[in-house]
Amino acid sequence: MKVTKAVIPAAGFGTRFLPATKSQPKEMLPVVDTPVIQYVVEEAVASGITDILMVIGRGKRAIEEHFDRSFELEWELEAKGKMAELETIRRISDLANIHFVWQKQMLGLGDAVRCARAHVNNEPFAVLLGDTLMQARVPATRQLLEVHARYHACVVALEEVAPAKVSSYGVIAGERLDGRVWQVRDLVEKPRPEQAPSRMAVASRYVLVPEIFEALDRVRPGKGGEIQLTDALRLLTHSQAMYGCQVDAVRHDAGNKLDFIKTNILYALTRRDLRAALGDFILEQAEQVRKSRGDA
Ligand code: G1P
Repeated sequence: MKVTKAVIPAAGFGTRFLPATKSQPKEMLPVVDTPVIQYVVEEAVASGITDILMVIGRGKRAIEEHFDRSFELEWELEAKGKMAELETIRRISDLANIHFVWQKQMLGLGDAVRCARAHVNNEPFAVLLGDTLMQARVPATRQLLEVHARYHACVVALEEVAPAKVSSYGVIAGERLDGRVWQVRDLVEKPRPEQAPSRMAVASRYVLVPEIFEALDRVRPGKGGEIQLTDALRLLTHSQAMYGCQVDAVRHDAGNKLDFIKTNILYALTRRDLRAALGDFILEQAEQVRKSRGDA
């Protein structure tokens, strides 16, 4: 069965970005000139997804408006002959069929996914975390969908992380099958480094089967008192096969300040209109930093 639906959880409070996130969601923060969540939607669409459900929370109206048409703005741009800008904003509302559901209480990622149950309606679906960008030649979600097409089972994106970092992720136990594909035997959410079963971390993208909803109903609150998607996946490994795909992509966590700034620089450096001037600025600044460190 071809996977056409994706779920994008985007209901977190974004406390790490206050005050910027006091009245706007962190997923709307721009990388260069485009909100983070638009890149995520573009990845889904480039992976063959045509229907997207966003799980939103308090103060998330800006996301809805971003993906809706803005006739006033379109009219204004047209009247001024700004056709390139007009094309840019029209394209956003034509990207996919986008739907919204509200997560009533912030009970965790597992609970956010649970809010998608009625919408995905017994079909396999992709999950893309709304604050993480994946720079890749072949879209990361498409890489997972290719593995799913082979095994018809859950597939999680994997990334090898440093031992000190495992406690920030869901971590798998399993073995490599071939190339980038892993058989997942077990998962644990944010383990202490000495208790981690491996260094293979779950990296922000999933393809899930509908049985995940029964598993989500059965799990009790886990790490941080939240309903963890990782715990539901773990439960599912007891009754069905599960796979991992070490994605060929560079992941940017736009939900954390330093990585967000780095992501902006990296994306700006890929832009023809900004590359040269930004490159000069970085070299100047690097020189200053080097001097101040040498003087210190
Ligand atoms: C979530 C998941 C975790 C996963 C991580 C990155 O954690 O719970 O298993 O490894 O995303 O994809 P969060 O970063 O939301 O705390």
